Amino acid sequence: MRAAGRLIEARICTGKHKETAVAVVGEGGEAHRLLLVGLGVDNRLTLQVIREAAGVAGSYARKNSLARCAIIVPVGKVPQDAVASAIVEGFILGAFRFTEYRKAARNNGKPIALTIVAPSRCGAAVKVAAVLADAQNIARDLAFRPGNEINPVTLAGIARQAAEDAGLSCRVLDEKQLARLGMGGILAVGAGAKATPPRLIVLDHAPRGVVRPPVLLVGKTVTFDTGGISIKPSEKMGRMIFDKCGGMAVLGAMVAVAKLKLPVRVIGILAAAENHISERAYRPGDILRMYNGVTVEVTNTDAEGRLVLGDAMAWGIEEFAPRVCLDMATLTGGVIVALGRSTAGIMGNDQQLIERLIAMGKEQGERMWQLPLPEEPAEMLKSEYADIVNSAGRDAHPLQGAAFLSFFLPQAKPIPWAHLDIAGVADTERETPLYIKGATGWGVRTLVRWLAEQK
Ligand code: BES
Ligand code: MN
Ligand code: ZN
Repeated sequence: MRAAGRLIEARICTGKHKETAVAVVGEGGEAHRLLLVGLGVDNRLTLQVIREAAGVAGSYARKNSLARCAIIVPVGKVPQDAVASAIVEGFILGAFRFTEYRKAARNNGKPIALTIVAPSRCGAAVKVAAVLADAQNIARDLAFRPGNEINPVTLAGIARQAAEDAGLSCRVLDEKQLARLGMGGILAVGAGAKATPPRLIVLDHAPRGVVRPPVLLVGKTVTFDTGGISIKPSEKMGRMIFDKCGGMAVLGAMVAVAKLKLPVRVIGILAAAENHISERAYRPGDILRMYNGVTVEVTNTDAEGRLVLGDAMAWGIEEFAPRVCLDMATLTGGVIVALGRSTAGIMGNDQQLIERLIAMGKEQGERMWQLPLPEEPAEMLKSEYADIVNSAGRDAHPLQGAAFLSFFLPQAKPIPWAHLDIAGVADTERETPLYIKGATGWGVRTLVRWLAEQK
């Protein structure tokens, strides 16, 4: 601590948020380094500020190939458990790298042994935080994997393995079963990808003795989105490997839920398809029949996420009779126009649910902003020849997406539902204290913290 004092005295560090300074303490073989990370001014200290400072430390530890670290939890107004959790989360997220394809860096991926030094005992909170951040990193690591590695079929195998490791049951519906069930949406989106057909991946956390109806999570898992026949511009198309991030967040959350043994039944569905171009691809003008019988005129093959989600939601709700349904999707570029790259859009039919999720997200540093559901979804998505179109022109894309999804809730008695449009937050183009460029794993922590309340 003397070394820290000297750095501050000499004004080598001022305590500005995320500022760093390193000192060597001890002699010879006993020497180690002391990293100071600024937390900024007192009246702006939040859990997210702490989480980000810890992220800077994690990133430093990874860059310098440190094998062991200890962090001292600062004493302050904020509760110790919450501070210790934020530190652990930030450190683990900041230390993440995606090195699978880089020989030189690959050996640098070993976990860093982290000791948390706290005046009170925060052991349990620290363990939970580590599970959450590790699960978020699992989601990121998979999201980072490119389209030539991850497709619906390979992903189903990976999900099976992850489920087994975590203690979840897993069931995979292949394209034949999807056809038998009449899931015209996910089949159409995946039709252009002959070698990599769609899969519905169903993960089930069913703790013994729990009788309450489950919570249903559905993730858009488009393993690559070319746009289909309504092809996307080539600039930045490569980023569409991140179009599976909704599903990866659901997978990460399910892994955490199982590891934490939450006493609530949770079903996670990954609606996986590759939106490709070929003679088999679906076309603009096609009319599809979805699982629940709703017919859809395809006006744009690039509005594919809602088609895979619609089938998955309708089927999942019928199959599992959940008490509430959340979906996560990189659904629209429009949500980025509206809210930018650090706030997700949230829409739904249950104000209490939405407000609770926004509050949980705020604690986790995962910001959401509510957008309205259109008052007349049917009017907005009017089709000449079918029940609805999948895309109705240029206006209000995020709202159109939500309007579309609302047709796949039971119409007579809709269940509480929230739709998170994470197109802006699922990946980052700039490095931030917590995230290297690329997939962020956005949503895992918020989902699991919320699920932990749903006893
Ligand atoms: N996956 C995209 C949305 C997206 C865009 C995510 C940019 C991340 C960054 C989605 O499938 C899509 O293409 N949406 C279209 C919908 C439109 C055709 C109605 C969009 O937002 O442009
Ligand atoms: Mn698309
Ligand atoms: Zn997409």
